[in-house]
Amino acid sequence: MKFDLHFVETIDSTNTALKALAKDGAPEGYVLTAERQTSGRGRLGRAFFSPAGSGLYSSLLLRPKMPIRPAALTCLAAVAAAETVRSYGKDCRIKWVNDLYLDGKKVAGILTEGALDQSGQLRYAIVGIGFDLNVPKNLPASLDPVVGGIFDRPLSASEREAFLLRYLERFAGYYERLPEIAFWEAYRNLQIVFGRRVAFSENGTPKSGVAQSVDRDFRLLVCSEGALIPLERGEVTFIAPQEGD
Ligand code: BTN
Repeated sequence: MKFDLHFVETIDSTNTALKALAKDGAPEGYVLTAERQTSGRGRLGRAFFSPAGSGLYSSLLLRPKMPIRPAALTCLAAVAAAETVRSYGKDCRIKWVNDLYLDGKKVAGILTEGALDQSGQLRYAIVGIGFDLNVPKNLPASLDPVVGGIFDRPLSASEREAFLLRYLERFAGYYERLPEIAFWEAYRNLQIVFGRRVAFSENGTPKSGVAQSVDRDFRLLVCSEGALIPLERGEVTFIAPQEGD
């Protein structure tokens, strides 16, 4: 895959802007990266705090030639990103489905968005990732216990670019092998959720259980009240173990 890299200082959201470019016919491999986002978006309709000086906010445009679900692209990106961080000697792991964790704190999140054609195939997909390269200053109090940083200092422009390229190259390595899901095993091996008690919602009903595994469709299998529930989407939050776990 050939990458066409574009850098901007400030933008509302790299995903939103790249979506407009995709509609205008921008090619696969177009990468839009910002220093700061004014309306960064996360999954489940949440805002993604995207100040200058600490993060790398980047979106990649794909035009997949084979049927692939956006969730699989999110997991592919999670592995590429975790392996990138690990290549700097950091024990980065994945929390199903789209979060990267380091030392108990979130250091990156992924938002994949797509448009389907009439046959239900992805016409294009945008894989957006926000890395907290170092802990953001002026972190809102609500994010303080959650958000971490990959490095303990701000990176220079050339270090940031090298980091981004390392991620993109890993991404391409897996993407070019599709439909083989060569990243599935790594996705499972890097999980921090297995064996942990988690809360989740099933059709709007709050539930809890112990996360067991991830299947080949990247669904999280949670054992709850004697049944194995496959979670397709949403998120899980960690809760304290109960007697018998
Ligand atoms: C999440 O944690 O829920 C996902 C966060 C995804 C943030 C990235 S930053 C680059 C791209 N542009 C956005 O507006 N969101 C994604």
